[in-house]
Amino acid sequence: MSKPAFILSMLSIALSSVLTSSASAQGIDFGRDIWPIIEMNCVSCHGPDKQKGDLRFDDLEWLTDEELTGPGSPKDSIIFELISLPGDHDDVMPPKNGPLSHAEITLIRLWIEGGAKSEGWEVPEIDMDKIKAAGAAKAAKGKDAPKESAAVTLAKGVQPAPADALKALEDKGALAIPLAQNNNLLRVDFNLAGDKITDAEMPLLDAVSNHVTWLSLGNTKVTDAGMAKVAGLPNLTRLHLENTQITDASMAHIAKLQHLEYLNLFNTPVTDAGLKQLSGLKNLKKVFVWQSKVSADGAKALTAAIPGIQVNTGIALAAAKPAVDLSSKFTKDSCCAKAHAAGKKCDHACCVEAAGKNEVCTKCNKPAAPAKVDLSKGFTKDSCCAKAHAGGKACDHPCCVEAAKGNKVCTKCNKPAAPAKVDLSKGFTKDSCCAKAHAGGKACTHPCCVEAAKGNKVCTKCNKSAA
Ligand code: HEC
Repeated sequence: MSKPAFILSMLSIALSSVLTSSASAQGIDFGRDIWPIIEMNCVSCHGPDKQKGDLRFDDLEWLTDEELTGPGSPKDSIIFELISLPGDHDDVMPPKNGPLSHAEITLIRLWIEGGAKSEGWEVPEIDMDKIKAAGAAKAAKGKDAPKESAAVTLAKGVQPAPADALKALEDKGALAIPLAQNNNLLRVDFNLAGDKITDAEMPLLDAVSNHVTWLSLGNTKVTDAGMAKVAGLPNLTRLHLENTQITDASMAHIAKLQHLEYLNLFNTPVTDAGLKQLSGLKNLKKVFVWQSKVSADGAKALTAAIPGIQVNTGIALAAAKPAVDLSSKFTKDSCCAKAHAAGKKCDHACCVEAAGKNEVCTKCNKPAAPAKVDLSKGFTKDSCCAKAHAGGKACDHPCCVEAAKGNKVCTKCNKPAAPAKVDLSKGFTKDSCCAKAHAGGKACTHPCCVEAAKGNKVCTKCNKSAA
């Protein structure tokens, strides 16, 4: 595998001046800074479910593989080489929902430089659902990264950020790095320090107020009071507030950010009333409101107010729920059942589509027809059906075909056999019309007696039981 030396040097030119001085390798904590990157970006393919390339990152043995990690020397590390390849390179890791951000790659580089240590840290229980949801969120987010052009335009005339201001941010655990080479705008991530960050840290942004174009306050303890500072960042294009207690009260501040293109309000208490205040932000392209208090109607109202905006309510993500095991519903010998037996998923278009909806393809997996019942016992002697059956066939009279579909015998052609004739003569009253006819070897022909005989009864009018 070729070593992408040019990438390495680009990274170091862009980042070393900013990072190596303050966010030193000693400050990197494997469990806090590195594991979350590995867990969310690598474990889906190198973990309990799949072990691509025979690698499992949830088993910390990989840490002791010197070629893989390259302790002390990122340029000898296969992992560092693969994560820092260009995003469209065939070998880049992760190959999907990537590449890793500058911040993440930098953290891993610093960690490797510091000897790739884990200080006896242990892998917590892996939650594949959480990892999959994060992947889906990243896929949704990645599609709408701010256009390079906006960042380039805004960067015009912006001088490099003062080093002491960057150091002050990094001392608090924030990552503050230039957006790109030759672009002095800054990306500032506070979410790495998470709940250690409160409103008290927000004044640190004053010294770089014209520089900050991406700001992440996700997972921090920042409140509406701290958000007043954010209103003073004129070049902000991307703002992460996910998993914070930010409410509608902050929306008036955010409404002042005329260049804002991306806003993440995932899992905040923001409501429709707050979202409505953003209607004037004509550059807003993507707002993420999954698990906030925003309703479908609220999302629709903002979509109507800002042309071209996408308000993500998470419905697409909810649909991307972990797949249900459908195999129990596959019909014996169906394409799906065969693929499943081979440890695969059926790749017929109809089956793939059905699986996407957590359903079984009903074209390929027909519910078994009810077991055929042997109807021949119900055929009347000499009926069309009995004859056909004797000839080894099914009767083809339409009425019989129709009845057979319902597992029934055609009652028009197969009349239920008349009940066995009962000897009624014992019930005849001595000298009755019936007794006389019987004595003559006949059946009585009186209508009332004929009628009674049909029901296997003795006519009670003519045969009065002896008092
Ligand atoms: C979408 C699935 C997927 C994700 C996510 C993923 N990988 Fe991989 N990885 C693969 C596959 C497939 C291979 C095997 C490539 C091959 O054998 O040619 C691989 C191989 C590797 C290898 C071995 C390469 C070699 O030369 O032996 C390393 C190291 C690696 N991945 C690191 C990572 C890291 C680090 C991450 C997270 C930042 C990651 N991968 C995320 C699919 C993935």
